[in-house]
Amino acid sequence: MVNAVKRVLVFDSGVGGLSVLDAIVASGAALELDYVADNAWLPYGLKSDADLRARAPALLHSITQQWVPDLVVVACNTASTIALDVVRAALTVPVVGVVPPIKPAAALTRTGVIGVLATPATVRRAYTNDLIAQFAPDKRVIRFGSAALVAAAEQKLRGEPVNQAAIAEAIEGLFGAPGGAQIDVVALACTHFPLLDKELAAAAPRACAWLDSGEAIARRVASLLIAPRGAPRVNRAGFTDAGVINALRPALETRGFSTVARLGDSPAFDALALSGVASA
Ligand code: DGL
Repeated sequence: MVNAVKRVLVFDSGVGGLSVLDAIVASGAALELDYVADNAWLPYGLKSDADLRARAPALLHSITQQWVPDLVVVACNTASTIALDVVRAALTVPVVGVVPPIKPAAALTRTGVIGVLATPATVRRAYTNDLIAQFAPDKRVIRFGSAALVAAAEQKLRGEPVNQAAIAEAIEGLFGAPGGAQIDVVALACTHFPLLDKELAAAAPRACAWLDSGEAIARRVASLLIAPRGAPRVNRAGFTDAGVINALRPALETRGFSTVARLGDSPAFDALALSGVASA
């Protein structure tokens, strides 16, 4: 008998996509969830567009052959804004990408000044320019790109202290820019950053709304797969660099992952070994 519960593969360069996985879990859709992090190539935000357009489809093509999802979420703004078309062309299942939440930020601001916090690659992308031109033409948009915040989120999930200098630099980059004192909404346009939302909010000079795309993606996934309400099940997590797995174990266990896979490197990206996560 065919298993009716649909299987979703959530993909990111590192742990950032876990913020999207968390939102899918919180949405209460009956789905099976797997996770793949290309952390051997982290951070994507400092890679060239050409490299990302080659790497992301190759990796996802190989993994989807083995893990056979019904849908793939590219839970990475940096990859979505440059490589979604080539990922879609490489796969036979639907692909949902992340869009920087500029439209809801523009709808929410009262002051007319919004911040966009992303990776250095995403802040300068034509895709981001187009979103701003389309949805926030009458707003003042202050952008800041940070690769250090990506590393800080990775450290946090490994149980290390959060790098407060990275937080302070990002806050200064937004609120210290001309007009930045008026920012009342910040679009978190990197999936790593919701993992640091409390730290960012605590360091900001004023109360702001911190928006991310997690809930919107969860809604889109559930509607595309016509997923019934029910208990989501979190299954496998795969990493292209297995060196971090032990340090990430508590963060993975908390989310209910039952298995951690060490993925081989290009071009095969084979699941080299499957090791059970010790249950708590
Ligand atoms: N989490 C990714 C994003 O949403 C990028 C992190 C990285 O630079 O690898 O953009």
